[in-house]
Amino acid sequence: MKILANDGISQNGIAALENAGFDVLTTTVAQEQLANYINDKKVDALLVRSATKVRKELIDACPTLKLIGRGGVGMDNIDVDYAKAKDIHVINTPAASSESVAELVFAHLFGGARFLYDANRNMPLEGDSNFKGLKKSYSKGTELRGKTLGILGFGNIGQATAKLAIGVGMNVIYFDPEVKETNIDLSFFDGQKMTFDLKSSKKSDLLEKADYISLHIPGQDNYVLGKTEFAQMKKGVGIVNAARGGVLDEVALIEALENGSVSFAGLDVYESEPSPEIKILMHSSISLSPHIGAATLEAQERIGLELAEQIISLLK
Ligand SMILES: NC(=O)c1ccc[n+]([C@@H]2O[C@H](COP(=O)([O-])OP(=O)(O)OC[C@H]3O[C@@H](n4cnc5c(N)ncnc54)[C@H](O)[C@@H]3O)[C@@H](O)[C@H]2O)c1
Repeated sequence: MKILANDGISQNGIAALENAGFDVLTTTVAQEQLANYINDKKVDALLVRSATKVRKELIDACPTLKLIGRGGVGMDNIDVDYAKAKDIHVINTPAASSESVAELVFAHLFGGARFLYDANRNMPLEGDSNFKGLKKSYSKGTELRGKTLGILGFGNIGQATAKLAIGVGMNVIYFDPEVKETNIDLSFFDGQKMTFDLKSSKKSDLLEKADYISLHIPGQDNYVLGKTEFAQMKKGVGIVNAARGGVLDEVALIEALENGSVSFAGLDVYESEPSPEIKILMHSSISLSPHIGAATLEAQERIGLELAEQIISLLK
């Protein structure tokens, strides 16, 4: 059986599939040539990340396809229901990148609490001429330990973020209408394990109590954090969005940063991605990353292996 990994797949994923007798093609075929290529090579399974689109027209044009796999979480680039209605398996790897996203959240949080995002902008410009001035402007940092992290959305990534927060010594509160109560299991380097029982707070309580807020919800029709919510938050709160552009109102965020009600924001995702607003990119209180939450070598390896395991069990 032939598998086309059109947006790439990790070496260990390829090895697992080849050991099970699959032929793995890793050519990146342009979107408009994809149907021809799949038909020509009689591809049985198409694996994508976010770049390749698997729309109805492609599905109709490729009768050999038995499986579509998305390395990662969001399936916005695949017509999932249509494919399933045609008896094509559609799989993804929902938990493979949770720890990677959670660590990026903490990169933004640690960096935010100590102004690293701004120091990294200004040290190359005036680090030699104004060292003492910069030292003074970044000398009122804070510790994360003992502060309260409010997590909006307590699925895979929200819970992975909670584990890191507990490890750092933070208080964790969350709001998720679907996860009323849950156990968080922490495993330590020496084999010790600890379990923490957490219950969902009310959203309004979380907004009032949190020193930092991190978003881990799927894309929504309306903003989850906008002007009204910013007005309910603790003064000087730090906010991280590594979920989806559009869950946070960027105009309201800029306003809140300018009037001091929010002290900094860490953004990995943007409303107008892939061309974020210049006001966001240039703002001195925003820590920026270009949607790299899931993009670690370890996550890519887990994604490759998880896809391989599912393909082997479904197609062998
Ligand atoms: N930055 C990145 O590179 C990156 C990588 C992977 C995933 N993500 C994004 O992270 C988000 C979370 O992913 P996940 O794997 O944890 O998803 P998940 O499905 O495991 O969890 C999402 C949770 O959000 C809850 N939720 C939905 N609407 C809510 C609301 N309005 N308020 C509070 N909770 C709400 C759901 O009940 C669910 O428990 C998704 O938007 C995903 O697209 C980003």
